[in-house]
Amino acid sequence: MTSDVLLSVEGLAKRYGGLQAVKDLSFSLRRGEILGLLGPNGAGKTTAFNMIAGFVRADAGRIVFEGRDIAGRKPWEVCAAGIARTFQLSRPFGGMTVRENLVVGHLEKTRDRAASQRQADELIEFLSMQALAGTDAELLTAFDRRKVELGRALSTQPSLLLMDEVVAGATPQEAQTMVGLVKQVRDRGVTVLIIEHVMKVIMGLSDRVIVMHHGELIADGPPEAVVRQPDVLKAYFGDDYVDAAA
Ligand SMILES: Nc1ncnc2c1ncn2[C@@H]1O[C@H](COP(=O)(O)OP(=O)(O)O)[C@@H](O)[C@H]1O
Ligand SMILES: [Mg+2]
Repeated sequence: MTSDVLLSVEGLAKRYGGLQAVKDLSFSLRRGEILGLLGPNGAGKTTAFNMIAGFVRADAGRIVFEGRDIAGRKPWEVCAAGIARTFQLSRPFGGMTVRENLVVGHLEKTRDRAASQRQADELIEFLSMQALAGTDAELLTAFDRRKVELGRALSTQPSLLLMDEVVAGATPQEAQTMVGLVKQVRDRGVTVLIIEHVMKVIMGLSDRVIVMHHGELIADGPPEAVVRQPDVLKAYFGDDYVDAAA
C-alpha cells in the first residue's frame, strides 16, 4: 500500500554552537504536492533542507521518506532513495558542457550511457537550452546555471525535488519561466518542496506553504491564508508593518 504522505519530518533539530538553527520542526509532504517553505533570512530553511538531503546531520528527529527513516544517511544514499536537490548557490560542474552536466547524474545511477544521453537531450529540450547544449556550464548566465542545476537534479529521476531559492536574483520574466518549469515538473509526477524568500513567487506556485521563523514552524496552510497571519507578517516585515495594516 502506498501512503499519501511522501515525506514526513518529525521533531527535527540542529544547533550551531549557541544558535538553535532548527528547533522541533515537524511537517509532512503529500505525494504530488508543491509545498512552499517560506521564512525570512536566517530562519533555518536551508539547514532544514540540508538535513533532509543528508548534507547536515540532525541533532534530533526523524525524516521519514517512503515509509523509511533516512535521518543520518549520506547525500548519495538520499539521492539513490529518490530525493534530489538544487543548491541556493548553483554550482554546475565547470569544464563540462550543459549536456555533460545533464548526463552524469543518471549515468552514475544506471551506468547506461545511451539512456543517460537520451535523457539529457530530453532535459535540454524541457529547459529550452538546445542552443546552449555544447556550452561550458561555467560560462552561462546566472539564470541558465540555475536551469542546469534543475536539470541535473531531475536527471537522477527523483520522486522528491528540493529546490532552494531558485528565483533569487532573477528578473520577473525569468522567475515566471522557473515557475512554469516547476509546475511542469510536478505535472510529470515529481513532488516538490521549494524554499523561497520571495512571497509572491510562492503564492502562485505552491499548493500549501509552511513558514519558519527563528528555526521554528510558525504556519502551515493554504498560501492565501498563511500570508494573512499576523505572526507571519510580523516575521517578514516587523511589528510596524502589522500595526500599520491593522
Ligand atoms: N554551518 C553553519 N555554522 C554555523 N551557523 C550556521 C551554519 N549554517 C547556518 N547557520 C546559521 O543558522 C541559521 C539558519 O541558517 P539557514 O538555514 O541558512 O537559514 P535560511 O536558509 O532560512 O536563510 C542562521 O543564523 C545561520 O547563520
Ligand atoms: Mg537559505
